[in-house]
Amino acid sequence: MPTASTPRPVQIAPSVLPADMSRLGEACAELEQAGVDRIQFDVMDGRFVPNLTFGPDVIAACRKHAEVPFEAHLMVEQPDELLPRYVEAGCRLVIVHAEACTHLHRTLGHIADAGAAAAVALNPATPAVAVAHVLDLVEMVLVMTVNPGFGGQAYIGTMEPKVAKVRRMIVERGLDVDIEVDGGISPATIEGAARAGANVFIAGSALFRDPEGLTHATDELRALADATR
Ligand code: DX5
Repeated sequence: MPTASTPRPVQIAPSVLPADMSRLGEACAELEQAGVDRIQFDVMDGRFVPNLTFGPDVIAACRKHAEVPFEAHLMVEQPDELLPRYVEAGCRLVIVHAEACTHLHRTLGHIADAGAAAAVALNPATPAVAVAHVLDLVEMVLVMTVNPGFGGQAYIGTMEPKVAKVRRMIVERGLDVDIEVDGGISPATIEGAARAGANVFIAGSALFRDPEGLTHATDELRALADATR
């Protein structure tokens, strides 16, 4: 039985933002064949972040192309509004931003009511303490390692002390919670994030732009993260 201090299993998950949107379903099947552990859909509303991507219908259309778990990263201002639609679309985990929720504790409850696992995300400027009173409601905390809105940005290494603080908070409370990092994750940055306490790694550019392909990229990231244990 894993305990709070047992290192949590490394998971590699793509952000599909760099994928060819005209064949997103096939891209999900290719990612599954490459051995990823889950697939993250970056939902952006053009308000919470200065970019616009896709909603639940696109995710639902991809569901029949792959078995791996889907998660929705909601970079939207009013996450409660469409929340159940993401669960119906096939997402087993729904991530909301602490900065977007006036009533974060209630919103995390709504995700559970809709039948999904809940997670909370923190923008780079938001301190770890923002999740101190909801850690018992979540399966995962997402520490953004870029300012959300775009792929291909530089990793913000100064987020590692925040990852370490969140990990300490989880262990001190004896909770069983993953820490995910997202933004600029690559072979050059994943070890620092893993040593700080992260165990789930979102990668967009590093996966889709590897000249040796998705499987090579996934295996390389996993091996580097595992080697820090
Ligand atoms: C940014 C998204 C990230 C991004 C990651 O707001 O949340 O998932 O697509 O892309 P890379 O790995 O290229 O930084």
